[in-house]
Amino acid sequence: MPQPEHSLRPAAETFEYAGCQITVVGFDEIVAAAAADQPVELLRGAALPPGIGSARLSFSTRARDGDPVYRLDASLRIGREPQPAFGVLGRDPVGLLLARRAAARDDWGVRVVGGVGAAGSGVSRWLGRPPAPVREEQPVRSVARTDPATGLRATVTYHRPPSRFAGGGPLVTVQASVPSGQMSPRHLAAMLGVVLDIAGRAAGGDGPHGEYVLSRYPMGPSSGADAAERVTLDQVGGLDAVVAQFRQIAVSFQHPQVMARWGARRPQGILLYGPPGTGKTMLARALAAEIGATFREIRTPEILDKWLGGSERNIKRIFRDARRYREPTVMLFDEFDSIISYTGAGMDAASQAINAVAGIFKQEMNDLIEHNPNVIVVATTNFPERVDDSLIRSGRFDIKLAIPRPDHSGRAQIIAKMIRQLMTRHETAGFRMFADDIDVDGLATASAGMTGADLKEALRRAQLAKAMQEARTGAAPTPISQHDIAGHIAELVIR
Ligand SMILES: Nc1ncnc2c1ncn2[C@@H]1O[C@H](COP(=O)(O)OP(=O)(O)OP(=O)(O)O)[C@@H](O)[C@H]1O
Ligand SMILES: [Mg+2]
Repeated sequence: MPQPEHSLRPAAETFEYAGCQITVVGFDEIVAAAAADQPVELLRGAALPPGIGSARLSFSTRARDGDPVYRLDASLRIGREPQPAFGVLGRDPVGLLLARRAAARDDWGVRVVGGVGAAGSGVSRWLGRPPAPVREEQPVRSVARTDPATGLRATVTYHRPPSRFAGGGPLVTVQASVPSGQMSPRHLAAMLGVVLDIAGRAAGGDGPHGEYVLSRYPMGPSSGADAAERVTLDQVGGLDAVVAQFRQIAVSFQHPQVMARWGARRPQGILLYGPPGTGKTMLARALAAEIGATFREIRTPEILDKWLGGSERNIKRIFRDARRYREPTVMLFDEFDSIISYTGAGMDAASQAINAVAGIFKQEMNDLIEHNPNVIVVATTNFPERVDDSLIRSGRFDIKLAIPRPDHSGRAQIIAKMIRQLMTRHETAGFRMFADDIDVDGLATASAGMTGADLKEALRRAQLAKAMQEARTGAAPTPISQHDIAGHIAELVIR
């Protein structure tokens, strides 16, 4: 039997810097996530030393002269955040428009949102992205700092304080690059050490102290929703062949020139079918993350309209918009059959409307990729037999993949991934979420017939039971054990 302790719990290392303890949790996960071309925010929600308005630390990869390098970017607001020059990004029409544009990663929206200062940084925080610096903050002075333990060379740049009108304290940014072969947890800790050291000097008094955790899932009020949204392919369990194919699709999507040179056409539509809760929607989201694309989900009510001609207009509008997306976009038609299924020879108005929608969908899918290479369509269904063949013929949906219930080893993989993720996200030096007796194989056996969604529910119940126990009694319960999870799995088994 594999050593559960080694296979599940992410490696954590603790270092001392600037009088603080810095623990790096799940370093390999951090590196893998950044390799998917997504900067990983490592410090969101951390308790900051008094006198520090905000601090962030992000980790990303990029190529320099053909070689990959890791890039560390940090920023520190000394004193309070600058105030908005006007208005607050609220639930007024402009605020909502900006928020929506920012959520759609629209550059224009993000720039404008950045321009409104603190309100903008609120939106950025909500989106899990760094606040855009206020325009007046020109860099005035840069100094180099070297960490003797790692050789990490960081450039510290001090910026002119924001205008008197905006108020707020000065901004300090820190930047360092590390060749990929040298990157280690200690480099991450050293970078935060530099930031904490600056914070300590700036804040005076006692300076920073205490414990900081750097992980892919930082703690904090905004991290819950964000982290839940950000699903990646490496979180998908038991579907290795599908995940491998999705990675290939992402590569083809990211290299349109290479595809064009060979006259190769990448897939424009992917149909995922299988029972509920097996990970179809999750895969679509993860594909968007892998590509670095915006995720746009089209739900049934957005299309189906009780008024004559309404549904046809809606589907036409959806595709007209899709042809204009300037950013890479994964469009998901979730529960495709309910939107566009042939009900047979139904002559009633509802069947006719659905048939009309299906007809438009077919036409639009014929040449979407020619009109807009930025879009890829994913459709999911539990009832493939209800979807008309002509809709999903090759050319429209080039790839059709069955997503079955996981088998024994699939369930074991899903459970291991879920538990590892929870540990990375929630465990700290002083808090153990799971006991050492977790036997993934045993849980896979106990959960025969269950899907990923069921396994997630069993774990959710286990977490809730412990949290409620602590909330009721005020005393820390024992970590979640094999027995606990097995009990929750048994509750869910339909006899
Ligand atoms: N293969 C899997 N690997 C990891 N997690 C999974 C897997 N399948 C399901 N899950 C978990 O279950 C949740 C629900 O799955 P998801 O919504 O993707 O199912 P679905 O196939 O779209 O179901 P439905 O057909 O009902 O829409 C996911 O968010 C994920 O947490
Ligand atoms: Mg789904």
